[in-house]
Amino acid sequence: MKSFASDNYSGVHPEIIEALNRANHEHMGSYGADEITQRTIGKFKDFFGDDIEVFFVYNGTGANVLGLRALTQSFHSIICSELAHINVDESTAPEKFTGCKLIGIPTTDGKIYPDQVEQKIQRLGDQHHPQARVISISQSTEYSTVYSVEEIKSLSAVAKKYNLFLHMDGARISNAAVSLEENFRVFTKDAGVDVLSFGGAKNGMMFGEAVIFFNKALTQHFPYIRKQGMQLHSKMRFISAQFEALLSNDLWKRNAIHANAMAKKLEQGLRQIPQIKITQRVDGNGVFAILPKVIIEDLQHELYFYVWNDRTNECRLMCSFDTREEEIKRFVEKAKALCSAL
Ligand SMILES: Cc1ncc(COP(=O)(O)O)c(C=O)c1O
Repeated sequence: MKSFASDNYSGVHPEIIEALNRANHEHMGSYGADEITQRTIGKFKDFFGDDIEVFFVYNGTGANVLGLRALTQSFHSIICSELAHINVDESTAPEKFTGCKLIGIPTTDGKIYPDQVEQKIQRLGDQHHPQARVISISQSTEYSTVYSVEEIKSLSAVAKKYNLFLHMDGARISNAAVSLEENFRVFTKDAGVDVLSFGGAKNGMMFGEAVIFFNKALTQHFPYIRKQGMQLHSKMRFISAQFEALLSNDLWKRNAIHANAMAKKLEQGLRQIPQIKITQRVDGNGVFAILPKVIIEDLQHELYFYVWNDRTNECRLMCSFDTREEEIKRFVEKAKALCSAL
């Protein structure tokens, strides 16, 4: 049974499974001391340039939390959107591992903007006050919107002005790259991002994310931070082999193009139904829509999805690399039928 619940509900892309099978032979060094991991770091360097450091971890929460840990001390604060995954969907892992205060900025489109961020940077140098150290943004955002290159640069300018770091949660970075029609580097390293969580699991991998540092000086303690944070995978070749496949033959792009295109089709279909209101720009692979409350349960039986906001009946419909056009059609027809009976 398919669903629009999450891009994590999807399975694993066959090319990733093939890569895992290929990696599954003989013995190889553990903890990253293997040829596949070395080759895959080289693949990331093809995208981002040689002057980066890449660390593989198991999941997105680990990538974010440990990346932030490398940037902070426990008297710091991290500024992010109120809806940021680090703020609302990682339990209190960021707080526990960094010791920092998270400062969530209210958002209507999933993004945060320079003037809002500047208002939160207060009392720097005052020993009584949490010291702002990181601006963290998600690309694409939790609302599936995408920051433009200029928007990221303007946040980076604020970070630089106050001697802060810019962190990017790129759990859906491939969907953002496809939406912007830019290569990864333009809206990360070249736009002033210091540390990036590069996502794999939501774009066809079984598991695995990469923490990428664009400022090598920040990685001094990271091997220890990763181990202490329980994210050092012993059979690392099985994370790197997946990334090697994802970054080869444009698999990352093919998957993200498909997922984003499906989300657009879903948006177009739902826009034809007067009782349904699309609430966000559909830049990436998710559609947010307010549905009449009475149809939600029946429609969930057709293809499951989550209600994002109980009070407004705003729902989140996520597409993935394996969403089929027939499923979109079926879902839109059902939504039409249910709405016309109201
Ligand atoms: C924006 C964002 N960041 C990070 C993650 C990674 O989470 P996980 O720890 O479940 O891999 C997710 C997953 O839902 C996400 O939506």
